[in-house]
Amino acid sequence: ASRGDAVGSVKQQLSKIFKASLQATFPNEQDVDPLVSVSTAKFGDYQCNNAMGMWSKIKGKSTEFSNPNSIGQALVKNLPASEMIESTSVAKAGFINIILSNAWIAKHIERMLLNGIETWAPIIPVKRAVVDFSSPNIAKEMHVGHLRSTIIGDTLARMLEFSNVEVLRRNHVGDWGTQFGMLIEYLFEMSPNGEDAGRQAIGDLQDFYKASKKKFDEDASFKEKAQKAVVRLQGGELKYSNAWKEICEISRREFAQVYQRLGVRLVEKSFYNPYIPDAIRELDDKGLVVESEGARVIFIEGQQIPLIVVKSDGGYGYASTDLTAIRYRLREEKAEWIIYLTDVGQQNHFDMVFCAARRASWLPESVGSSFPKASHVGFGLVLGADGKRFRTRSSEVVRLVDLLDEAKNRCRKELEQRLENHGKLGEWTDHELEKTAEAVGYGAVKYADLKNNRLTNYTFSFDQMLNDKGNTAVYLLYAHARICSIIRKSNRDLEELKKGGGISLSHADERILGLHLVRFAEVVEEACLNLLPNVLCEYLYNLSETFTRFYTSCQVIGSAEESSRLLLCEATAVVMRQCFELLGIEPVYKI
Ligand code: ARG
Repeated sequence: ASRGDAVGSVKQQLSKIFKASLQATFPNEQDVDPLVSVSTAKFGDYQCNNAMGMWSKIKGKSTEFSNPNSIGQALVKNLPASEMIESTSVAKAGFINIILSNAWIAKHIERMLLNGIETWAPIIPVKRAVVDFSSPNIAKEMHVGHLRSTIIGDTLARMLEFSNVEVLRRNHVGDWGTQFGMLIEYLFEMSPNGEDAGRQAIGDLQDFYKASKKKFDEDASFKEKAQKAVVRLQGGELKYSNAWKEICEISRREFAQVYQRLGVRLVEKSFYNPYIPDAIRELDDKGLVVESEGARVIFIEGQQIPLIVVKSDGGYGYASTDLTAIRYRLREEKAEWIIYLTDVGQQNHFDMVFCAARRASWLPESVGSSFPKASHVGFGLVLGADGKRFRTRSSEVVRLVDLLDEAKNRCRKELEQRLENHGKLGEWTDHELEKTAEAVGYGAVKYADLKNNRLTNYTFSFDQMLNDKGNTAVYLLYAHARICSIIRKSNRDLEELKKGGGISLSHADERILGLHLVRFAEVVEEACLNLLPNVLCEYLYNLSETFTRFYTSCQVIGSAEESSRLLLCEATAVVMRQCFELLGIEPVYKI
């Protein structure tokens, strides 16, 4: 199946039907959006809530309707024929309760099994998006804040890509600041004679950064040299840009180790430098830039501190780069949605950048749900068991590579123990053990982060995230593996089963599972549009629980309904796998 085959979520499909009914009922009001949502009451699976709003719109103008309820009735009467809907009922206030047809749910699942889960991608009204995430600083440590940015950003990118949006994954590495000059100057001091020596001198990047910072703070003449070095770097002097390149290379190798473990793909794009003067000129021409204390700045209404466009020493800073980048992304790269991931502490910075971009007419004046737009996706802190910022015991910044390795090693130990207890350790190759430990270990770290509302702080705990009970990746991955083993044990040919179809949802728990499955697309849509990966985690966890209920009350193997129920097992496994894929978690097939 191709991506073009996506039919949209259930909500989108129902919306289409109700749009037709709205147009037929109100020929003079063609622009009304259908308001279809998942039902919170038990009278239906979905509901349509247009009657009330239409009533206040036409009240007094039309003699056709006497109250919201009569509008609800008319909307139902004018619904085009659809195999999706089993029945409807109109509440007193005009809300329309919709019950989906079992036959349609079953068919929808059968078609997905045949044509691929891609056909369940939601339809998102954006062609191209930029996701600016991870974005550590060259030669500084990549800390848990960057880990959050990387994990959340990667998931959002994956969800948009699945929804057929072209995503430019951008690692906005570092900024042209004083610290670059500091590092370059320190590199020259450590290796006055050549580049290879420099490589040796840097050794451990974090130590190198710390030592140069110390010198910068203590030695005034070094500080001055460092500040000049920035200007010479920005002026394009070869010796300086070569040294800079070298430092970048070494940093990148460090970052790459983390990305490799997490399976994250990113394109570094930080060199908006050549475009800065032009962007500033435009801001200036539009009358946005003013002088203040020797610097050139943009004041934003309601903000105390302005955006610094050109520093008093003539250099460019964080804001100069971000203003240039947003202009480039909108104009040259034609992105319709630009999404930035940083801790909530940077919210203000981005609010100001977006505001300046609106005043420069790079972004449309109105802020809302329409595109093009820019969104800042903030997140809270990662805390240690002591409730303070997550650090190592010696209160150093945790090296991310070490943290990920520890997660994997712990998983491997647990896995071996578990297999030993079941007398199955001998059936596993070393390679299988290692791959499974990686999938579960890295998956656990990601899931523990993603399942929280991103704005809240969360406590990092290996014991909690590696627990095989409760809302953890370990539990979910094992649940998936168990479904796979049910299917294997049946000894049935899955491809034949799929072609045969014949899903039936006669047991109440079968229907609940079926309904939860077909809701997948709208959950992805919601998680995308609201930039909330925890919504997908919640769906996945509920899916697993719903499956357990089904499996407890409905015998699968050896029952009269075996074929139909095996297909429900397979559909659950497929949807779970797609959730894992979107969350950047590698599935596990056996335990
Ligand atoms: N490098 C910054 C930091 O470590 C994050 C950059 C975010 N992206 C951006 N376009 N400003 O905090």
